[in-house]
Amino acid sequence: MENREHAIEELARRNRLAEEGGGQERRERQASQGKLSARERIALLLDEGTFEETDKFVTHRCTDFGMAEKRVPGDGFVTGYGRVDGRTVFVFAQDFTVFGGSLSESNAAKIVKLMDMAMRVGAPMVGLNDSGGARIQEGVVSLAGYADIFLRNTLASGVIPQISAILGPCAGGAVYSPAITDFTLMVDKTSYMFVTGPDVIKTVTHEEVTKEQLGGATTHNEISGVAHFMAHDDQECIAMVRELLSFLPSNNLEDPPRKTCTDPADRADSELDTIVPFEANQPYDIKLVIERLVDDGYFFEVHEHFARNLVIGFARMNGRPVGVVANQPAFLAGVLDIDASVKGARFVRFCDAFNIPLITLEDVPGFLPGTQQEYGGIIRHGAKLLYAFAEATVPKLTVITRKAYGGAYCVMSSKHIRTDLNLAWPTAEIAVMGPEGAVNIVYGRELEEMVKQAEAYEGPLSEERKNEVLATARAEKVHEFREQFANPYIAAERGYLDGVILPHETRRRLIDALEMLDGKRDKNPPKKHGNIPL
Ligand code: HXC
Repeated sequence: MENREHAIEELARRNRLAEEGGGQERRERQASQGKLSARERIALLLDEGTFEETDKFVTHRCTDFGMAEKRVPGDGFVTGYGRVDGRTVFVFAQDFTVFGGSLSESNAAKIVKLMDMAMRVGAPMVGLNDSGGARIQEGVVSLAGYADIFLRNTLASGVIPQISAILGPCAGGAVYSPAITDFTLMVDKTSYMFVTGPDVIKTVTHEEVTKEQLGGATTHNEISGVAHFMAHDDQECIAMVRELLSFLPSNNLEDPPRKTCTDPADRADSELDTIVPFEANQPYDIKLVIERLVDDGYFFEVHEHFARNLVIGFARMNGRPVGVVANQPAFLAGVLDIDASVKGARFVRFCDAFNIPLITLEDVPGFLPGTQQEYGGIIRHGAKLLYAFAEATVPKLTVITRKAYGGAYCVMSSKHIRTDLNLAWPTAEIAVMGPEGAVNIVYGRELEEMVKQAEAYEGPLSEERKNEVLATARAEKVHEFREQFANPYIAAERGYLDGVILPHETRRRLIDALEMLDGKRDKNPPKKHGNIPL
């Protein structure tokens, strides 16, 4: 440098170049699509004025395809750390205006450096993704960069929370890193995730599909389950990331952050006493139950649009974050199917990894029968949920509100798989299966016998009369069966339930139990890792 002024000018020039990214035209294109810039996104995520940028002057080293002349300081990734609600968070944001936010050897190294640091200090990692995947001009070194990141994602899993916001088109490697992280959020109409885009699909399979149908926010929130949250715009998405972080500890050695609670811990909500319809087949919305139990009625739902027969999400009980898993009688009668099992299992494992107590609300008629489910591997997938609950050592509390039938009784955090407190409402029914199915199997012969007896009295019966006799006999047996088994007391007599309580007492009982379990210590046998049925 010629002199001090020149040195300072050079720094300012490089800073300006880094901040300009891919230039005016591309920045305008980004804005015209309703998307924020990488730096605007980071500013929204972090507490004001807390962002410290790292590696702002890193550039790529590619010299092929005329790339030597096309260098932008930072190489299209903005990386660094700052604070969210006063707690340290590491963040990267891909700048789509620089080679489509694609991943190069150099900018991959920036992320790797950041992830290693996040692991060392035990702070969450947030990725703000907007990327065309591996940088095509760089070939294998870009792929290597992805593999380096995938390794870190995997090693960091269960150590620090990892969150991926998808804020633009993300293809190839740009979707596999988010897939390993804990939560993926997408923005409706501006974000896409696919391994290969519509053009490639058309060439290979001749299938015509739009970007939106293939990998839009609705597709991944409702159908594939790849995404956990859907936002309307970047602002809402980033606010959701902040909200999500508020429930999570910074790492697996910490407890989740407690908030001051003004909602009385012993609040008795009498509405709960009548919320469950007495008829076993009548639906009700379990979210209304959740809202009446948790602090200030505030439930932060995860995977809201996917497998709606199981509801999962975060809430607070007397200021303490909890993970809620609840069957949803208002959707498919709350049955457990493949998607619901996978959804629940992953959430339970997340909460267990990060010391977040689990509250299970159970009203489940069983696993969904049928060839579609069996061929799809409901045995393997259902086992995931069972495995996850059984393996979890965080405080576990279960309330059976109505049905707990069959294998689903065992799966949904039953006493037998180390649940700390199992309660039931007086409306609970615990049985191997519903009375209707059970009667057909157990009393099949007896029912036939009754028809024969009727024939002995009345002579040969018409089809209509036969059905009438059968229906009356079956109804009697169903009634008998229900009287005998469809209640919580057989389980309570054996200690499989710790108590049968009035619904309005539930909040107080759960909060008391969480206090009691504050110092819970439980371990699984030493092993390299288990073999969850994937
Ligand atoms: C280099 C890229 C790029 C890439 C986009 N660009 N993707 N440059 N490498 N992967 C550049 C474009 O050349 C263009 O540059 C600018 O980014 C914007 O791209 P457009 O196509 O104009 O934008 P848009 O129409 O919005 O489409 C976005 C897109 C599309 C859907 C992401 O660009 C696309 O399909 N890209 C390729 C996706 C892909 O197949 N990636 C490789 C995956 S392989 P200019 O100069 O015109 O602004 C992979 C392997 C990882 O990632 C391993 C996983 C296990």
